[in-house]
Amino acid sequence: MNKIIVNGGNKLNGEISVQGAKNSVLPILVATLLVDGVSVIHNCPYLSDVDATIKILRYLGCVVSRDGHTVTVDSSTMCRQDVPDCLMREMRSSIVFLGGIVGRMGKAVLSTPGGCEIGLRPIDLHLSSMEQFGAKVTTENGFIVCSAEENGLCGTRIVLSFPSVGATENIILTATLAKGTTVISNAAREPEISDLADFLNRCGAKIYGAGDGTIVVEGVSRLHSAEHTIIPDRIVAATYMIATAMTGGKVCLKDVVPSHLGPIIQPLRESGCFVFIKGRNVTLSSQKQLKRIKMIRTMPHPGFPTDVQAQMMALTTIADGTSVFIENIFESRYKHIGELLRFGAKIHAEGRMAVVEGVKTLNGANVKATDLRGGSAMILAGLSANGITEISHIHHIDRGYEEPEKVLEYLGADIKRVKENEEYTT
Ligand code: UD1
Repeated sequence: MNKIIVNGGNKLNGEISVQGAKNSVLPILVATLLVDGVSVIHNCPYLSDVDATIKILRYLGCVVSRDGHTVTVDSSTMCRQDVPDCLMREMRSSIVFLGGIVGRMGKAVLSTPGGCEIGLRPIDLHLSSMEQFGAKVTTENGFIVCSAEENGLCGTRIVLSFPSVGATENIILTATLAKGTTVISNAAREPEISDLADFLNRCGAKIYGAGDGTIVVEGVSRLHSAEHTIIPDRIVAATYMIATAMTGGKVCLKDVVPSHLGPIIQPLRESGCFVFIKGRNVTLSSQKQLKRIKMIRTMPHPGFPTDVQAQMMALTTIADGTSVFIENIFESRYKHIGELLRFGAKIHAEGRMAVVEGVKTLNGANVKATDLRGGSAMILAGLSANGITEISHIHHIDRGYEEPEKVLEYLGADIKRVKENEEYTT
């Protein structure tokens, strides 16, 4: 197993571009299943979750090729409706294959998905939505069988009890080629939903209102070939901004979408960082001594993203004063706390609340990545800590960050990826 080793203390300085968004590229690659032809998707990051998605597309019979950050999918050869358990378990977001496969083939057979262990992550909203389109959903030997072969899929009105990102994506995918009009109320408003709708609309879909709470999809009979460029990853951008804040540096993120970063910029300013926005460039500069952030409540977009909670918590461990976190999206998304304590952080958690009392400095530690974003928080703590930090289980980090050690080294960090048992020399 590989490890990331950080020798903390270096300030980050410079300019970087940000990788394409993981949470966009996955549903968009699934959406290529609905296209009667070839889809060319640019700005696809090198991530293990993208590899897992491509594996499933190939299993389904699609011809997929990659040239650098461009992935081309020819789905005209799609010939299967099922995804085997071993492929489903590779990532949680494999549940969006439900809408893609049913939308294209009228039937899908999938096992329940895997992914980060951050709470129960049920899929009831996904399954009940399928039923509202007229599909029959049953479970057979641990597999979900969703079939609309008898009557086809019919547009419908769906009111989500919670604005689930994945359920909204599955509904959009199912509605795109369904008969008639679908209206989704209380839809997720994340930028990645708009990116999915933009791709599908380029292919000839009729999706209106993505990014708002109500989305209308008028079913069309076919989609044609198109090209699309994935939006920059706002969670990765936030992670590098927090890394800069914690090391007292100055970094410019080039060609991002500043409005996507609004919920993150506000608390960063509260912590004393300067954030300048010029066109599509966002620059953060920090004085190193950070101030506490009074309260972080994770909420659906445009609230503070749960995917940045762990990283922001790492920041508050060295801020002056007490910060409070309330995790409203996932039940047990505090696994990183136990690892942050190893750096000498002072954190008390109970239920959905965590209270962080800032300390003067963190000390390097041997820690593990407990999940994807919790893992990135370990890198951040290591960058600001005194001495050496070793992070194991970094396969979690590789699900969502493209070569983070190279990006951070380029900005001035002393960080390396090593094979287990390989010596680290400074
Ligand atoms: C997506 C993101 C993930 C992010 C999350 C919340 C992708 C690939 N992943 O995950 O990075 O952390 O949004 O912003 O885009 N829920 C139900 N029933 C359902 C579906 C969801 O109760 O059928 C609950 C979940 O348990 C969770 C909450 O709704 O508590 C949010 O889940 P959801 O928005 O669906 O997240 P994902 O799509 O899994």
